[in-house]
Amino acid sequence: MTTPGSARARPVALVTGASRGLGAAIAARLAAAGHPVAVNYASSGAAAEAVAEGIRATGGVARAYRADITDEHEAASMVEDVRGDLGPVGVLVLNATGPQPAIPAGEVRWPDMRAQLDFFVKSPVLLLGSVLPDMRASGWGRIVHIGSDSVRGLPKGSTAYVTAKSAQLALARMWAAELGPFGITVNTVAPGWIPVERHLDASPTDLEEYAARVPVNRLGVPDDVAGAVAYLVSEDASFVNGAWLTVNGGSVPG
Ligand SMILES: NC(=O)c1ccc[n+]([C@@H]2O[C@H](COP(=O)([O-])OP(=O)(O)OC[C@H]3O[C@@H](n4cnc5c(N)ncnc54)[C@H](OP(=O)(O)O)[C@@H]3O)[C@@H](O)[C@H]2O)c1
Repeated sequence: MTTPGSARARPVALVTGASRGLGAAIAARLAAAGHPVAVNYASSGAAAEAVAEGIRATGGVARAYRADITDEHEAASMVEDVRGDLGPVGVLVLNATGPQPAIPAGEVRWPDMRAQLDFFVKSPVLLLGSVLPDMRASGWGRIVHIGSDSVRGLPKGSTAYVTAKSAQLALARMWAAELGPFGITVNTVAPGWIPVERHLDASPTDLEEYAARVPVNRLGVPDDVAGAVAYLVSEDASFVNGAWLTVNGGSVPG
């Protein structure tokens, strides 16, 4: 009998929001580690197909799946589709995000809060419900939340985002405590600012000033985050559960 996670055929990984940015790098990294990868996206179909095609071109297994992961039916039916095409999901990376507008604390309205909570609390809860039966049946699972070091850094204008990311961290810690006994680890990777496609209009001054505050003297790249995720998914991390791992060069203490 083969043990999930240590067998040659690695468990299927579902990465939400993997059509670009950190998710695309995480998908590629997990595929390189041998996981068949479901590349989720909401609207950027061509980009997601390109990510999946890039993985296949290097010998990996990947398919793109369209689903709004904040929608109960779409999230559930995506997990079913992945199960039918690639197999049961053994690795869940909760990465997708919508827009993160800066709003002064006094101007934040409930819809602003709900928009962030939908991504970082509602969607993880929906997806856990769909993947948990298979993880429990196999006695093995890896769940990685992509959080943010802004939970500690508290940048102004981020009330809704930081509150939702803080709730996501609490969710991860509760799941770690409750799911650990079933062979399922749950951890959080908390990046600092890692410039991706949506930051293309960031000014060189902003980038330089941020980099100057990073103790290791450089900006992070998506593969820095992908490497941390790959570690937490690997057997080397089988005793790491409920951790909050900052990937920010030390700019906000972990
Ligand atoms: N980059 C950073 O500096 C940074 C720092 C700290 C934390 N983070 C966290 O890292 C994660 C990834 O951030 P990122 O910067 O890589 O984001 P990004 O480049 O904006 O990518 C967001 C991804 O989410 C997808 N998406 C959006 N709405 C969706 C929905 N309703 N359902 C499914 N997918 C959806 C997008 O695909 P479509 O285009 O198809 O919608 C895209 O693939 C987020 O959780 C973010 O909070 C990022």
